[in-house]
Amino acid sequence: NKPKVLVARSIFPETIARLSEHFEVEANQSDESWTKAQLIARLKGKQGVFTTGSERIDAEVLDACPDLKICANMAVGYNNFDIDAMTAHGVLGTNAPDVLTETTADFGFALLMATARRISESEHFLRAGKWEKWSYDMFAGSDIHGSTLGIIGMGRIGQGIAKRGALGFGMKVIYHNRSRLEASLEAECKAAYVGKEELLKTADHVVLVVPYTPASHHTIGAAEIALMKPTATLINIARGGIVDDAALAVALREKRIAAAGLDVFEGEPKVNPELLKVPNVVLTPHIASATVPTRRAMADLAVDNLIGYLVHDKPVTPLNPSVLAAR
Ligand code: GLV
Ligand code: GLV
Repeated sequence: NKPKVLVARSIFPETIARLSEHFEVEANQSDESWTKAQLIARLKGKQGVFTTGSERIDAEVLDACPDLKICANMAVGYNNFDIDAMTAHGVLGTNAPDVLTETTADFGFALLMATARRISESEHFLRAGKWEKWSYDMFAGSDIHGSTLGIIGMGRIGQGIAKRGALGFGMKVIYHNRSRLEASLEAECKAAYVGKEELLKTADHVVLVVPYTPASHHTIGAAEIALMKPTATLINIARGGIVDDAALAVALREKRIAAAGLDVFEGEPKVNPELLKVPNVVLTPHIASATVPTRRAMADLAVDNLIGYLVHDKPVTPLNPSVLAAR
């Protein structure tokens, strides 16, 4: 009598195969989008669910699915979980940290470079057949080497970006975080702690890597953008809602800052149409962790958590371990 697990979105066949060794698996391999009612209908009677970061698990879902014991997210961020409601219902949440850190830091740096050096904008120009002559200021951007990198959110990914900037590109790195890093970690990242306002005023490139919470909603809005240098770039690889996208679109149109690079959006997969109208923004569809090996590692970690908890009573990366103690 194997425990029952629901896989909420399409995933590697190998992931389903591994789960099937231990569980009775129902999987959404057609990858249709389920409404909440459809999710609940399929989740009833299941002990575990494999989620991808898009499925909202809240009190309504938990009330309707009393057999549920664990939600394993294939993402480091878990703002799709109402973690307090999960704890109250005795449901464990797990995420997929660490395995995506370096891949995501690579992408943050790639997006920074593409934005500062206007790579997307210039490729569109070339593809449109507009390249007819050399010109002294054609797609002249801003430098990365030797500039000041400001990182808001100095978790593992932020630290990875700091090291890339300091060690690889000779950048001066400043950061802001809810809590200051230990001195040894600051030294390893060659990063100096500053207040948010000072960071915004002095950084040439601002990178956002904070988790989304009600407190981090619109960490960057019109007032914060107004503090930034007119030559600065803003990179968001954190979550939609960390930046006020409407205010950013206005700022980009009015050239209050030079450019932005966005991998995440308020209300994604919809993108604020005003952002689509401005040329000085690089837009990518939430792919910062998307390399084949890393996506496999993330899926494997979610599976490890489901097997770890439902079979061996030992989850790998629990988010609300108080659930374990309370049983
Ligand atoms: C992706 O956004 C993640 O949280 O893993
Ligand atoms: C966030 O959890 C990070 O790893 O930066």
